[in-house]
Amino acid sequence: MKVHTFTGFFLISGLLLSPGHTASAADEAFIESVVIFNTICAKCHEAQCSGRLSFDDALAASTGHILRHYGEASGKKWLQKELFEILNYMKERCSYYPMNTPVPLTRVWGSDVLAKLSTLLEKNYFIPIGNFTPGSYRIELELEKDTRITAHLITEEFDMIVEDCYESSNRRINIPFVVESSGIHYFRIYPRKPVRITRLSITTLNDQ
Ligand code: HEC
Repeated sequence: MKVHTFTGFFLISGLLLSPGHTASAADEAFIESVVIFNTICAKCHEAQCSGRLSFDDALAASTGHILRHYGEASGKKWLQKELFEILNYMKERCSYYPMNTPVPLTRVWGSDVLAKLSTLLEKNYFIPIGNFTPGSYRIELELEKDTRITAHLITEEFDMIVEDCYESSNRRINIPFVVESSGIHYFRIYPRKPVRITRLSITTLNDQ
């Protein structure tokens, strides 16, 4: 039963988010849940690929646990349910929940798009940066104020190719990285203090 309801939801959201469709408030709420899961819950649940779904009653049983790690989900049953479904998706498919956020062809993300890919209070970011072929690249970040961040660059197979701390100077941070095998990549940021990221761009240094 669970599998069907879930697949149904996935198909419907896939249709709603088909190219050309303007994202509705509901779609954006779901993207926010994916970002919360992939930053906060991911600290323990990332790449948890048991292949086995949790039962529906596990949701009720784990409410206290979810709230301990994300207090802002208090009183928001829909959010608790979405986080639970995202965990089930990861367990079953062994992959990140698809986000359907378009990747700009120029690989430049502005503050409007970035705001939708961050959690409200902590300003953790989880950004699908699209497909990369082998080569060397550089991420350039512009922040609203100087701070220290932890950055992760992760492949769709959950391999971390960057896992480091960076201190901004003049509100900028540059992060070089090397891609060895082609595939979709994700960029995750944990700022030491909540900070708005106003621009993210990725430039190609050397194609292989
Ligand atoms: C500090 C580590 C940690 C964090 C952070 C964390 N969890 Fe967990 N979670 C666990 C452990 C350990 C268990 C029990 C073992 C298991 O089922 O994986 C668990 C169990 C669960 C279960 C029950 C699964 C089942 O099949 O019964 C759910 C649902 C869950 N977590 C959701 C979340 C969500 C949603 C978040 C983010 C808001 C989160 N967890 C954050 C460690 C964590």
